[in-house]
Amino acid sequence: MIVLVGFMGAGKTTIGRVLAGQLGLPFADSDLVIEQRTGRQVRHIFAEDGEPAFRALEHEVIADLLDGPDAVLALGGGAPEHPGVQTALKAAVAKQAEVVYLQVGYQQAMQRVAGDEYRPLLARPGLDDLYQHRLDVYGSVASLTIATDGRRPEAISQDVIEHLLQAPSG
Ligand code: S3P
Repeated sequence: MIVLVGFMGAGKTTIGRVLAGQLGLPFADSDLVIEQRTGRQVRHIFAEDGEPAFRALEHEVIADLLDGPDAVLALGGGAPEHPGVQTALKAAVAKQAEVVYLQVGYQQAMQRVAGDEYRPLLARPGLDDLYQHRLDVYGSVASLTIATDGRRPEAISQDVIEHLLQAPSG
């Protein structure tokens, strides 16, 4: 199991798809699974039910995905803040999963996601503080950290594969 974490705009979904294709594994994105299960958009869940309800749903979906068949999983940027997700990720790493933290600079992240109306957090004040706070959170759950600024998804995917070859995991 390979799990991608990082801030909005780190490239989790794009890199996840490339990586899954190269490894011949299925790909899942927790936001998309939430949308499929509920039939609602993430931004509507945030607006109508509030963030705590979204986080609970997100935790449930991620726990199910981690229990499921081997895959490349991209997690929503806020997921690793949930204590239940942290516990599930640590348990997964103990069972040889790789949790890859895709690092992105704040400016680059904002350039990549600017104006995306599907990301409710972009409209929130203090986003730079949230970014700073999350750096530690991502670092604490990761088994591998890769810088993404100015790099192509294919090159980043290749870095992950090279790491897996050096330290084979199940
Ligand atoms: C969020 C990130 C989003 C999505 C939701 C909340 C966050 O996912 O889960 O809008 O808290 O950072 P991406 O990281 O894929 O944009």
